[in-house]
Amino acid sequence: MTDEVFSLQMQEKKERVEAIIHNYLLEEDAFPGSLASAVNYSMNAGGKRVRPILMSESYQIFGGKGAVIEPMIAAIEMIHTHSLIHDDLPAIDNDDYRRGRKTAHVVYGEALGVLAGDALLNLAYETALQAFAYEDLMCPPDRTVAALRILAEKTGIRGMLGGQGVDVENEKNHIVSLDQKTLDYIYENKTSALIEAPLMIGAVMAGADKGSVKLMEQVGHLTGLAFQIRDDILDVTGTLESIGKPAGSDTKNDKTTYVTLFGVEKAEAEVRRMTQEAVCLLDTLPGDTEFLTKMLLGMASRGN
Ligand code: IPE
Ligand code: IPE
Ligand code: MG
Ligand code: MG
Ligand code: MG
Repeated sequence: MTDEVFSLQMQEKKERVEAIIHNYLLEEDAFPGSLASAVNYSMNAGGKRVRPILMSESYQIFGGKGAVIEPMIAAIEMIHTHSLIHDDLPAIDNDDYRRGRKTAHVVYGEALGVLAGDALLNLAYETALQAFAYEDLMCPPDRTVAALRILAEKTGIRGMLGGQGVDVENEKNHIVSLDQKTLDYIYENKTSALIEAPLMIGAVMAGADKGSVKLMEQVGHLTGLAFQIRDDILDVTGTLESIGKPAGSDTKNDKTTYVTLFGVEKAEAEVRRMTQEAVCLLDTLPGDTEFLTKMLLGMASRGN
C-alpha cells in the first residue's frame, strides 16, 4: 500500500467513524441550559479519532460485520473526550486549548467543564448499552457483555483513571524525578488502557478467541506507550498551531516524562522500538493487518 493510498483510506475511515459518532451525540434543543452544548462542543472539536478507527479495524481483521460495533465506536471516543476535558481543568493540567479550540472549561466555565466531562463518561455507557438493541445471531449478547467489561475496566482505577491519579502527583514541588517504573505505570494506565480497549473490544465483538484478544491487548499496550512518549516529544517540539493544544504544558507543570528522563533522541528510539514490537505481534495474525500496521507506524511518527 502506497503512502498516498494509505492517506486516502485513513481520511475515509475517519469520516466513517465521525458519522457514527455524530449519530450518538445529543440533541441540544432537548435539554435546558448549556450542558448538552458543552458536551457537543468538545465532541465536535475534531481530534484524530484514533481510538474509534482502531476499534473498527480490529473488528474487521477478525471478520466482524454489521452495525453492532457502532455504539462501542462512539462510546470509546466519548470516554477519551471525557478524559481530555478533565485533563485540561485548572485542577489538573490547567490548559486553555484543545483540538485547536479553547477548552470546554474556558468557554463554559469550570463547573460546566467538570459536569460535561462527567456527562460524557456516563453517556458513553448509555451509548455502549445500545449495542444490545443490535443483537443478532452474528453477535450474541455475551460478546457485548464482555466488551462492556473491558470498556469499564480499562477506563476506571485499573486503567485510565488509575494512571491519571498517579500522574497528578507527578508534578509541582516534587523533589526527585520519578523513576521509570512509576512513569511506566502512569503511561500504561493513563494512555495504553484506552488504546488496548478499542483493539480488544473490536476483537471480542467479532468473536475472536481469547489468545487473539490477549494479543490485541499487548499490541495496544506497546502502541499506547509509544503514543504517550510521542505526545511527550510533541510537547517539547510542537507548537500550539501544530498540535492544537499548548506546547510546553509538561514543562509548565514540572512533569517528569520520557523526554526529561532520557532526552528527545532516546525517547524517539523507544517509540520506534515499541512500535516495531507491536507490528511484529500483528504480523502473527492471519487476517489482513496491512492498514492497521501502517496506522501504528503513522501514529509513531505523527506531528500532532
Ligand atoms: C491525547 O490523545 C491524550 C493522550 C493520551 C496523549 P490524542 O492525541 O488521541 O488526542 P485527540 O483525540 O487527537 O485530540
Ligand atoms: C493525558 O496525558 C492522558 C489522558 C488525558 C488520559 P497528557 O496530559 O500528556 O495529554 P495531553 O498532552 O494534555 O493531550
Ligand atoms: Mg495530563
Ligand atoms: Mg494534559
Ligand atoms: Mg501531553
